[in-house]
Amino acid sequence: MTRYPTNTPAPNLSRSATTLLCLALLALGNAGCQGASSSDTDSPGAGGSPPVQGGNAGAGAGGAASDPEAPIIDEVAVAARVEEILSGMTLEQKTAQMTQIQFEDVTTDGARAECYGSIFNGGEELPFSNDPATWAQTLDGLQQATIEGCGIPMLYAIDAVHGNAKVIGSTVFPHEVGLGATGDADLVERIGRAVGGECRGAGIHWVFAPTLAVARDERWGRTYESFGETPELSSKLGTAYIKGLQGGGDLSDPASVAATAKHYVGDGATTGGINAGVVEVGDATLRAIHLPPYQAAMVQNPASVMPSYHQWFRDGQLHYMSTDDYALNGLLKNELGFKGFCISDYDAVARTRGNAADGSQLPYSQDAVSTSVNAGMDMAMVAMDGGVGDWLSYLRSGAIPQNRIDDAVRRILRIKVLMGLFDDNSSKAFSNATLRSQIWSQEHQDLAREAVQKSLVLLQNDGILPLAKDQAIKVVGPYADSMGAQAGGWTVSWQGSDQYGTSEVMGETILAGLMAVGSNVAYSSSITAGDVVIAVVGERPSAEEFGDDGHKARDTNTWASVRLHKQPGYAELQAALTAGARVILVIMSGRPLVIEDPAVLANCSAIVEAWLPGSRGIGVADVLFGDVDFTGKLPHTWPRTFEQIPVNVSKQSDEPGYDAASTDVLYPYGYGLSYQ
Ligand code: GLC
Repeated sequence: MTRYPTNTPAPNLSRSATTLLCLALLALGNAGCQGASSSDTDSPGAGGSPPVQGGNAGAGAGGAASDPEAPIIDEVAVAARVEEILSGMTLEQKTAQMTQIQFEDVTTDGARAECYGSIFNGGEELPFSNDPATWAQTLDGLQQATIEGCGIPMLYAIDAVHGNAKVIGSTVFPHEVGLGATGDADLVERIGRAVGGECRGAGIHWVFAPTLAVARDERWGRTYESFGETPELSSKLGTAYIKGLQGGGDLSDPASVAATAKHYVGDGATTGGINAGVVEVGDATLRAIHLPPYQAAMVQNPASVMPSYHQWFRDGQLHYMSTDDYALNGLLKNELGFKGFCISDYDAVARTRGNAADGSQLPYSQDAVSTSVNAGMDMAMVAMDGGVGDWLSYLRSGAIPQNRIDDAVRRILRIKVLMGLFDDNSSKAFSNATLRSQIWSQEHQDLAREAVQKSLVLLQNDGILPLAKDQAIKVVGPYADSMGAQAGGWTVSWQGSDQYGTSEVMGETILAGLMAVGSNVAYSSSITAGDVVIAVVGERPSAEEFGDDGHKARDTNTWASVRLHKQPGYAELQAALTAGARVILVIMSGRPLVIEDPAVLANCSAIVEAWLPGSRGIGVADVLFGDVDFTGKLPHTWPRTFEQIPVNVSKQSDEPGYDAASTDVLYPYGYGLSYQ
């Protein structure tokens, strides 16, 4: 297997060589040629175009602006390094770079022999102790084998969508819907930065985050993974998240991880909120509502974009996002100037073939692979049995033009070069012990607490809030004391679990937080008239379609719902109201929940939305006791009835359920009270 220079520094090309290379690249149509960086001190005042900013060199026709704060990246030197590596690669090695294999399907011998471009965590089982040090040791072993095999480090990827929450010991932040309620780009950027460092400490280089969905139908189980219902919110916070994850544009920073803008484009627009369903809005609405977050994110040059599972009904035809040339090559790469690489969703390329008659998933096919790669897919996340072999054989069949394969590999290698994975004997390709020591640091704990405080939304208050510290308080609802419930999906396991405690999720529950801040708080089921009661009512953790309204949970005989009375804790709420208590309702959910009993609205002294707060339940107590005021605002319109869904601001006439008449919603988008 050819070894590649893994310890030669970035090429110190002379200016003349740079110019020649630049001309060559221009001839290749690589507009990435912007002249040497301004740091090129040997230039005798030669002309040349201004230095490249922000790594977005050579944006396409509609290329994005660059972040003026981003470091200047010498794209010519990067391109030269990429060519140097690419030029020595065989077709087998190039197609292996386009392959992301799941952890449980690869051994160190396999990594050494095949040199996969990436390895990711797909399934649930972990054949090793789930702690940061063991993660780091395990992933470093795979990395070492990969480099021994071909000298091209792999990227290890994981769904660190609200902290590196699969790795026990990590700081778990509020899910995106709660961050949407904060509206605070600086906070979100700081969270991205903290998550990046905790990932690199565990040996992880790439995260499948943030979700840039504009969630328009709360029946969608993944509403909690998006920042909200408007392109403005998703644009502002998604861009900030990417900036934080990617070190403000410096991917070579040891704490930076490659980000993934997902799920491209319009995953929050499916009819009925059905996960991976069908989007029926037209091109104009897609461009007005769902594309802007990707356009905005280009300023931060996301390393990757993940096309969505769903289909877009356009021009009378259904188009799978994973094989849609107009969406990928056309909109994303040419019009938005995306310079990173497209990573498929989990076997999404195969899923474009639909299912067999018996409902089973059809395997990869030459047609699906060729159509997807030619449409702009650069790497596939492959998990099904036999999938890797099929994917590779179809890539190597000769059916796909060599220059398309080379372009995909260039895009992938460019990110690895920008991350510095080839430099200094590939030291950056391995876990970082200093960053590992900062996992669950006091700084990160405080940041998570701040995020919870700022995410809370006060919906109604008869004056009972803020509570006095010595107020006698009874707390009811099983989820008041469940770390797993307050963390939600994508925590330790795919679906998460309301059975997780502090052994799985670092931090404290809402109950523990209330007992730490207040002096007279108890969990109690015996309620009498006049008691002050905090009732926590929350959604069961779920991921993907298992959270869609009406869908059965994956692991339990329960059903997801957008209705409040279907949630755990509701019976305890009703009992407290019936007993004549003064009730503060705390809703812990990934989306607005329809409150169908008017007595709840009439009789609750206060109602607070806490979203899915993650590690720091104490953040809720900080605000309920008045140490911090409410600042959160609703990132979603709160429907008054189930039948009103979908109901959003800036409704487009071709969106499902469009109702030209104004709708009497319960709480409008942007609503939120405070103590002032
Ligand atoms: C899933 C999700 C995607 C996730 C990927 C890897 O199907 O759609 O968000 O990043 O698989 O877990």
